[in-house]
Amino acid sequence: MAQVEFIQVGKSYGETGAVHNVNLTVDDSEFLVLLGPSGCGKSTLLKMVAGLEDVTAGEIRIDGRVVNYVKPGDRNVAMVFQNYALYPHMTVQENIGFPLKMTKVPKDQIRERVTRTAAILGLDGLLDRRPEQLSGGQRQRVALARSIIREPAVFLMDEPLSNLDAQLRVQTREELLKLHERLQTTTIYVTHDQIEAMTMGHRIVVMRSGVVQQVGRPQDVYDNPANTFVAAFLGSPRINLQTGKLDGATFGGDGFVVPLNSKLAGAASAVTAGSDVALGVRPEDIEVRVGAVEASGDKIALDGVVSLVEPVGSDLYVRAQTGNVDWMARTEARLPVEPGQAVTLVLNLEHAHLFGEDGRNLAS
Ligand SMILES: Nc1ncnc2c1ncn2[C@@H]1O[C@H](COP(=O)(O)OP(=O)(O)O)[C@@H](O)[C@H]1O
Ligand SMILES: [Mg+2]
Repeated sequence: MAQVEFIQVGKSYGETGAVHNVNLTVDDSEFLVLLGPSGCGKSTLLKMVAGLEDVTAGEIRIDGRVVNYVKPGDRNVAMVFQNYALYPHMTVQENIGFPLKMTKVPKDQIRERVTRTAAILGLDGLLDRRPEQLSGGQRQRVALARSIIREPAVFLMDEPLSNLDAQLRVQTREELLKLHERLQTTTIYVTHDQIEAMTMGHRIVVMRSGVVQQVGRPQDVYDNPANTFVAAFLGSPRINLQTGKLDGATFGGDGFVVPLNSKLAGAASAVTAGSDVALGVRPEDIEVRVGAVEASGDKIALDGVVSLVEPVGSDLYVRAQTGNVDWMARTEARLPVEPGQAVTLVLNLEHAHLFGEDGRNLAS
């Protein structure tokens, strides 16, 4: 088990910077998720921990030891990739035991550890098969087994579930969490999938263009996004971000006005009146009602017209217009509304946010 520290870590490929000034401590036995869109530097960061890429600025420490110049094989880390390559001519047993064979562990010990590791991942009955005789999920588990058999101090996982179909992804996600619970190995897990990040991470690190945007527990980050990028990256459908101006205790958008509750008014006091800001309201915080509704407390009523209705089974996504802007609401599945219908949108501002011109959350 180990702690991993990033101290002002940067990486550039020639002229282009891929990772900028990352400062972060991954605690012992933590399951930390790096989340962000493709190209934001997640894999690069992970590869620097593994020793597969040079660190061009700053330091990476594993349990206090600077590893910048330590050979990959001497870092006591194991990396699992999206494209796990198993040796096709070897059995499951031989594949799993391969790292130990390479380090000249005696045969009887290898056999014992392979048996134990295979049992942890539910591969007991498959030891004599070859990769071609396995399903995608089983192959991925063999790849995992091969990396955990060395009992590394740190697991590095780069989108290990991306190649699996939806059902298998959920199942393997649960297995990975159980595995972590059991082994308690410090894990850095990379994904671009917000659901994976939210469900798996003790903490998540949201990245954009090589820069860490926010670090925190999943729900905290979701509830208090540091900026519009984080707010929009987490949550589906996407958060409603309406641009407008502050005027006293009201927010004026294009063709609509929202009186601010005390939380938002507090945030608004950080900027001067007349500033350009964005109001952020998540779709689940908008109720669609047929007929007039009285506003009260945190709830604000706006008149709207439905433009699109998307049933997804468990919920109904309703797009409606007020003035010149669109709102997306996530409402109860069987609400009888249809395009063209006049409705009242009830915005619950309890979890709403105001973002400044630079995109930063005014409350943070
Ligand atoms: N070997 C490389 N040479 C040059 N640029 C690279 C190399 N690897 C990655 N990059 C660039 O670094 C940035 C981060 O890439 P990467 O870490 O792979 O992102 P992610 O894993 O988040 O999708 C991207 O702009 C990518 O094009
Ligand atoms: Mg990547």
